[in-house]
Amino acid sequence: MNAAWKPGLGQRDPFAAFLCDEATLALLRPVATDLGLVAEKCVIGGLRAAIQSLAVSASPAILLVDLSDSSDPLNEIGGLAEVCEPGTVVIALGRVNDVRLYRHLMASGIHDYLLKPVTGAQLSDALQQAKDTLLAPAATGPEAAHSHHATALIGIRGGVGASTLATSLGWLFSTAHRRPTALLDLDVHFGSAAISLDLEPGRGLVDAIANPGRIDGLFIERAMIRANDRLAILSAEAPIDTPLVNDGAAYLHLQEEFRHSFDLTVIDMPRAMLISHPHLLAQVNTVVLVTELTLPCARDTIRILSWLKQHAPGAQPLVVANKVPPGTAEIAKGDFESSIERSIDHLIPADPKSATAAAKLGKTLAEVAQAGRTGAALRALATAILGAAEQAGADPPPPAARSLLDRFDIKGLLAKKQSTS
Ligand SMILES: Nc1ncnc2c1ncn2[C@@H]1O[C@H](COP(=O)(O)OP(=O)(O)OP(=O)(O)O)[C@@H](O)[C@H]1O
Ligand SMILES: [Mg+2]
Repeated sequence: MNAAWKPGLGQRDPFAAFLCDEATLALLRPVATDLGLVAEKCVIGGLRAAIQSLAVSASPAILLVDLSDSSDPLNEIGGLAEVCEPGTVVIALGRVNDVRLYRHLMASGIHDYLLKPVTGAQLSDALQQAKDTLLAPAATGPEAAHSHHATALIGIRGGVGASTLATSLGWLFSTAHRRPTALLDLDVHFGSAAISLDLEPGRGLVDAIANPGRIDGLFIERAMIRANDRLAILSAEAPIDTPLVNDGAAYLHLQEEFRHSFDLTVIDMPRAMLISHPHLLAQVNTVVLVTELTLPCARDTIRILSWLKQHAPGAQPLVVANKVPPGTAEIAKGDFESSIERSIDHLIPADPKSATAAAKLGKTLAEVAQAGRTGAALRALATAILGAAEQAGADPPPPAARSLLDRFDIKGLLAKKQSTS
């Protein structure tokens, strides 16, 4: 027997068969086992049982379905198409030797049709071909070149604009750059990604947290809400009267599935999750630290940069100062930079007029402010992240860490603040 075959389709079973008679089932079991396909998934039931099963569970990679007990296979196969996840290779069996039926089945996306009674060799050939079909695109097709870049946005303190920047990046990636993008709003109770785009958040994220084992391509297709053709959002407005038991497994599954289904993931990550779920950043390529030019933000930027060095050394941090006022900030840019011992990578102007318009229109700041400086600054941030995605791995390692207190001259900053006010 071959080793168990794993097609690399997330949580999907590699194989399921719904047959109509014991004789074919007895023939199939050893053939499936020889090909490394799990034979327990072979049951009596035919097309109807297949439709019922697939309506409530993820589709297998290869599906063998017997049409013999179906009175109207031409129509009933449509029911299968409705519940069967794209990517499943379906092989049909039947007693009807009719070229019209064969053509219709092929046009419906059925991979092969075997006329009963079948031999073990025919079953084996058909299943082997199905396996080859599933493997072929991974080796040679565009899938082979599929790369993924995950960006997390963390607000250094509350209200600095992390969610505003997350939705703006999602919008820019999916429209200006035309890249399939997932926006994951991990602020499960108080997230604002959906509401700021005038969408209902749905229950997607709450369901994912409750059933991490069910997260797969199909789940994602059903649970995510579409903001446009290329931007899908997963968020929640979890009830605030009951705690949400959550070990973070769902987030890891989601990250993994997004990796397969999208080019880019944008994660709006509440900073408290650095403490509760530090492992989440292991899969993240760029961490955008959204800050304001204030004293508490300077202190916490230092702390979080230091945390990242230790816990997520593979992620590239970008410091983005948002809501930068036209005149004097609470802390001057240069002082903020010497305090955090690195430059601020991007400055986004304070633009209350555009922010208000965006909220009123249910659009992103990047869209509403596209004609002005704010739009240009947001586009520059998006382009920088995509540039980093392209040259991933080429960046030199960050300089060695020094002690936090060594770097944070809080008295000096306070003195400067007082002298400028
Ligand atoms: N550049 C900007 N200019 C003016 N207002 C802004 C700017 N960026 C964001 N805002 C506004 O700041 C407020 C807070 O923004 P947002 O909700 O994105 O912050 P947050 O960091 O995600 O907050 P929370 O800590 O609640 O998650 C919103 O009203 C938003 O419109
Ligand atoms: Mg937020």
